[in-house]
Amino acid sequence: MITDIVIGLQHGDEGKGKVTHHLLKNGGYTHCVRFNGGCNAGHTIIHNGKKFVTHHIPAGVFFGVTSVIGNGCVVDPVKLQEEIDYLESHGIPVRQNLRIASNAHVITEQHKAEDGVDEKIGTTRTGNGPAYRDKYNRSGIRACDVPSLVPFVVNIYEELRGDTVILMEGAQGFWLDPDWGDYPYVTSSHTGTAAAMQNGISPRSIRNVWGIIKAYETYVGKRQFQPSEEVFDRIQEAGQEFGATTGRVRQCNWLNVKEIHQAIAMNGVNRLVVNKMDVLRKVGAWGTTEGPFYGERHFRIFLQEEFGPLAGVDKIYFSDNPATIYEENPLTAAA
Ligand code: IMP
Ligand code: MG
Repeated sequence: MITDIVIGLQHGDEGKGKVTHHLLKNGGYTHCVRFNGGCNAGHTIIHNGKKFVTHHIPAGVFFGVTSVIGNGCVVDPVKLQEEIDYLESHGIPVRQNLRIASNAHVITEQHKAEDGVDEKIGTTRTGNGPAYRDKYNRSGIRACDVPSLVPFVVNIYEELRGDTVILMEGAQGFWLDPDWGDYPYVTSSHTGTAAAMQNGISPRSIRNVWGIIKAYETYVGKRQFQPSEEVFDRIQEAGQEFGATTGRVRQCNWLNVKEIHQAIAMNGVNRLVVNKMDVLRKVGAWGTTEGPFYGERHFRIFLQEEFGPLAGVDKIYFSDNPATIYEENPLTAAA
């Protein structure tokens, strides 16, 4: 068993879906596993030039890789069916590659009705919180008890053991974690490397932990997040910062250096991806919460020095388009 993990180091929407897709494209994985969250997640993926948004289904299905909804997730059987139909109608075979951990919990109509009237947190209203509440209250329903899910159900430990190479695809981000985020403005499942560990794999199998960030911060929900300067409106517009699940406007801010450091340290990140460099280039402003930068090169050198080997990261990748990432050689970049 070899495991790579992809997690968000901010508040979700860092571009995890894109990185997962990129890693799967290069091959070598036997499994792709979603390990937390439900259909609150919205992963935007460009596959063969076409845009897809997935909620429940791991990105492995785009490459015929066995794709597992792990026991750390909560599943809405209705939304899942819709998502299967949507992907299959666009020529992506799902059914034969999809597995669901028998002990994953289920989002019911009741959960959605309850979450649907949330005004306090600004949830995605997908029933996520109530489903996890019932799981931990020991009153939930599991995938193995829902007839429409039974054809996909597996024992995740049995599924993943042996000669496997696993890509774990995280949802949300480290600063939405119920323990580490700005409680109560958090999601209801753990979002870091430790959460991936709870899905039938061994911690000793970890090879790489990919930490994904955007070049700036975004957050969706009720907490006040975006400062009043108009540069953030320009970033919001240039970055098309609207929720993939809810369509809500994402609040924007400069990159939070302290939070990224903590997220790298606590999750053992050794590969860092900085997405959406093109957005700040378009806006023509570069900064972190600590202060402004003279331009892109200044900003890049800062990122490499700040989050490189001293922070435990061996490789930093950048991206300036919706589909790909590239590794930057720090020597040539700084020359
Ligand atoms: P919930 O996870 O739907 O309960 O929402 C709780 C908080 O997490 C809200 O602020 C949501 O906007 C946020 N959230 C949940 N999932 C995502 C996601 O995939 N991307 C960004 N924000 C999310
Ligand atoms: Mg998203």
